[in-house]
Amino acid sequence: MASTLVTNIKLLVNTRFENKLLRGKELSVLPCVENAFLLIEDGFIASFGEMINLGPVDEVADNIIDASGQMVLPCWCDSHTHLVFAASREEEFVDKIRGLSYAEIAARGGGILNSARKLNAMSESELLRLAWARLNEVMQMGTGAIEIKSGYGLSVEGELKMLRVIKRLKETSPIPVKATFLGAHTYPPEFKENHQGYIELLIKEMLPVIAEEELADYIDVFCETGFFSPGETEQICRAGMSYGLKPKIHANQLNLSGGTQTGVKLGAVSVDHLETMDEDAIQQLAASQTIGTLLPTAAFFLRMPFQPARQLIDGGCAIALATDFNPGSSPSGNMNLVVSMSCIQMKMLPEEAINAATINGAFAMELQDEVGSINIGKKANLIFTRPVPSLAYLPYSFGTNPIDRVMIEGEWL
Ligand code: NIG
Ligand code: FE
Repeated sequence: MASTLVTNIKLLVNTRFENKLLRGKELSVLPCVENAFLLIEDGFIASFGEMINLGPVDEVADNIIDASGQMVLPCWCDSHTHLVFAASREEEFVDKIRGLSYAEIAARGGGILNSARKLNAMSESELLRLAWARLNEVMQMGTGAIEIKSGYGLSVEGELKMLRVIKRLKETSPIPVKATFLGAHTYPPEFKENHQGYIELLIKEMLPVIAEEELADYIDVFCETGFFSPGETEQICRAGMSYGLKPKIHANQLNLSGGTQTGVKLGAVSVDHLETMDEDAIQQLAASQTIGTLLPTAAFFLRMPFQPARQLIDGGCAIALATDFNPGSSPSGNMNLVVSMSCIQMKMLPEEAINAATINGAFAMELQDEVGSINIGKKANLIFTRPVPSLAYLPYSFGTNPIDRVMIEGEWL
């Protein structure tokens, strides 16, 4: 058995003995151990505690890492990304600076349709190569588990190609990957006036193959005015659910779309975005088991009001944070920035943000038994920080790289 002992950790962050989805006030409690040790065996956390309680037997490890001055955190759990895409879209970024809105760009064939054209023209192996590079980049930035969506295919072949790329990432990546089928991202031009025609394609042509080849864990729908209505969202999700795919829904991004209520009604694992919330949506979410996943970098990039994190947390919701990494609304997969932005712009406390980006993010991918906290038996997917004065310094020093090294299953990246 290979063992690694990490000693003299200035602060071991998010140490837990049970897995519990955190909601409301619970989010502000972040258990930590000062001057700690951490024992890793065969890539898994075997024990941890204060240095003074480190027995002489524990010191017999194959490897000893002195982490003096460093903090150790569980890796970020990024539960919402669109990391498989063919090309960046900085030309639309410039159009937006010149005054066009996201909706206007989408209406003239840009946006998701632009990405879909490019993705359909690209080979599976080239897509995989690009996605693999992005995955490695986000791992270097501390991401230790990730969810990836389809949704830039919008054709039977394109969607299956994307999902097969995600499956390859799942098989080869050192970190856990969850796959989400988002065929209902927008209507392709040929189905613009025939919504049921496209929905039938999703349900009758795509879902059976996805189930047969085990290409997805979740089903997602962009429930939004001008995209998929609550009724259409429910129809698509129920079809996915009949194949064992649980819903994770794009909800309440641009409008009060009813997406949150639909997600709650369907028992969705999460409803994501939530820039535009009213009292009813907040109350229904708070009373449910569904996680609200906030994507502050998408709001930032689209110059939208940020998600009402304080109202959601104070109202008792379970909140996660994710990047939404995609070429149209969040061309960054940097969870450190997401954590900073949630503190700076949404007034989340550092403890709340770290919990939302680790343990609650793990729950939003149903990976809470594997990752998301320092807990015996979980994977040693860990962030070792540079020397930092305090925990709050991490979100405070936005835009700087707080990470010295990342460990995945006990091995340095
Ligand atoms: O999560 N909102 C819908 N989908 C993406 C954006 C997709 C795109 O513009 O390419 C999002 O923000
Ligand atoms: Fe998204």
